[in-house]
Amino acid sequence: MALRLKERLGKKFDEEIRFFKGMMQGPKTVGSIVPTSSITARKMASVVNLHSGLPVLELGPGTGAITKAILGRGVKPENLVAVEYSTDFYEHLVRLYPGVNFINGDAFNLDKTLGDLKGQTFDSVVSAVPLLNFPMQARIALLESLLDRLPAGRPVVQISYGPVSPIIARPDRYHIQHFDFIVRNIPPAQLWIYRRG
Ligand SMILES: C[S@@+](CC[C@H](N)C(=O)[O-])C[C@H]1O[C@@H](n2cnc3c(N)ncnc32)[C@H](O)[C@@H]1O
Repeated sequence: MALRLKERLGKKFDEEIRFFKGMMQGPKTVGSIVPTSSITARKMASVVNLHSGLPVLELGPGTGAITKAILGRGVKPENLVAVEYSTDFYEHLVRLYPGVNFINGDAFNLDKTLGDLKGQTFDSVVSAVPLLNFPMQARIALLESLLDRLPAGRPVVQISYGPVSPIIARPDRYHIQHFDFIVRNIPPAQLWIYRRG
């Protein structure tokens, strides 16, 4: 029992070290200070419709806390496509979650990054990309490109750390919903949902 606890603590520490290394390499691309909490990750994963038969798209999986929650919901690894910019995180994720379709690339250039999956329709998008570090025009373009890949009404859920939606309202193009505020996350996290139709 004590050994298992030691192993778990060791793993958590290892993830935090990895996260810290990611921060040192590119604090702007990481955008947070520690991995997403399991409560936040589960709430984000709750938007997935397991019966749609469509794959889920995850952006910015980092150390894999949200990936774990999506798989924990019952999404099969082969039904999860996850785009991670950092090669260090990517290599770690490939080892940690075999079968998941991880892509080492840029979420802001999805047509290129998704390759053969460029025309794929997804069930939903779960995103931890640090939007606040990118210009508003790039955030809007990313959202539009994500919504183009979803059936009307299906959600893009986004984590952010500011008080307002990281993407400005454009009611003619998409609807914004404040989904949750989670105190048990470092830093406390806001969750936003964007949909069309
Ligand atoms: C706040 S961290 C995500 C933390 C993650 N949920 C975890 O628990 O470890 C943001 C992640 O987005 C990734 N990222 C940043 N810019 C990106 C981009 N343009 N495309 C894909 N991933 C990106 C970073 O490398 C980092 O892994």
